[in-house]
Amino acid sequence: MMPLDSNDLLKARDLLQQGDVVAIPTETVYGLAASIESEKGLRKIFAVKERPFFDPLIVHVASIKEAQSLAAEWPPLADYLARSFWPGPLTVVVPKASHVNSLITSGLDTVAIRFPSHPIAQDLIRMTGTPLAAPSANKFGRTSPSRAEHVRSEFPDPNLMIIDGGDCEVGLESTVIALGKNAEGKDEVSILRPGAVTREMLEETLERWWPQATVSRTESQASPGHLEHHYMPKIPLAIVPESTSHPLGRTMLDSIAAQLKRDAATEARELVLSDDAAQAAQELYGEMRRLAESGADLLWIRSRPDRKGGLWMAIWDRIKRAATVDLTR
Ligand code: TXA
Ligand code: MG
Repeated sequence: MMPLDSNDLLKARDLLQQGDVVAIPTETVYGLAASIESEKGLRKIFAVKERPFFDPLIVHVASIKEAQSLAAEWPPLADYLARSFWPGPLTVVVPKASHVNSLITSGLDTVAIRFPSHPIAQDLIRMTGTPLAAPSANKFGRTSPSRAEHVRSEFPDPNLMIIDGGDCEVGLESTVIALGKNAEGKDEVSILRPGAVTREMLEETLERWWPQATVSRTESQASPGHLEHHYMPKIPLAIVPESTSHPLGRTMLDSIAAQLKRDAATEARELVLSDDAAQAAQELYGEMRRLAESGADLLWIRSRPDRKGGLWMAIWDRIKRAATVDLTR
């Protein structure tokens, strides 16, 4: 990590205020930020990422008050969860205030808001004087960056300013939740994208002061942009049964090749994750990038049905979306 100069933050602030984009560290992954007040900056995010306009952006704030100013309605449950988990890796979807640019929300009437815990992200939001819209700083559909060098390899343009804040602590994108009612008319928290604020953590927190509320996991469609194939490394990733031996045998290589409709891989590398979920999450994207750039033409990972619950839910969600072949389903 390069030592950070306070002039860098001032320069980043100027760029953001002038309608440019800057890559910034957060505790989850690096973001490609623009001021929400700059239509030019917002458009540049989509252009640089080659991101379709149907995929809405998360707005980053540095206080709960700032979050409230973006919402047409700030439900008591949103407030309770924000106060429980912010600053941190939780994004809350609420009805949007009319002044929020519809480029951010892809025309939806809701806005996704997050208060990051990374001190550099917080400083930049405060210095810029407006919330910052920031998707992960990678080309659309690709693996998110958890280190400044990852951002540079995604966007080699030397004109893009990247603030190096070291390795991201979490390594996976934030948990995205929406608030609604369940079949009995009780409050319900829907997890649109799992992350480091886990289902169990949400349940435990609700149990204390909001015992009537339930938590559910909502699959892809409800979270626009959280597509089935996303977070893809540059070479195919295959999920294979747990009992598969290392190195991959001929039969396995052939069945993967048949599914990919191409010749069998000659350099297959195994993606091995730590037994410790927090460490596995932190390393996942870096390992996927390292292996994809190691001259291999196939990545594979053993399915581990025993690794479930907690943070593993988010880890497997990303692995499944990153995979081109899943021989376990
Ligand atoms: O950890 C993170 O959330 C990172 C860092 C940079 O903060 N950001 C991030 O942004 O992952 P991005 O653009 O890669 O993912 C944003 C996702 C969208 O694809 C969509 O699934 C969801 O957030 N989202 C945004 N606005 C939404 C809305 N109004 N309703 C439902 N989902 C929304
Ligand atoms: Mg992303």
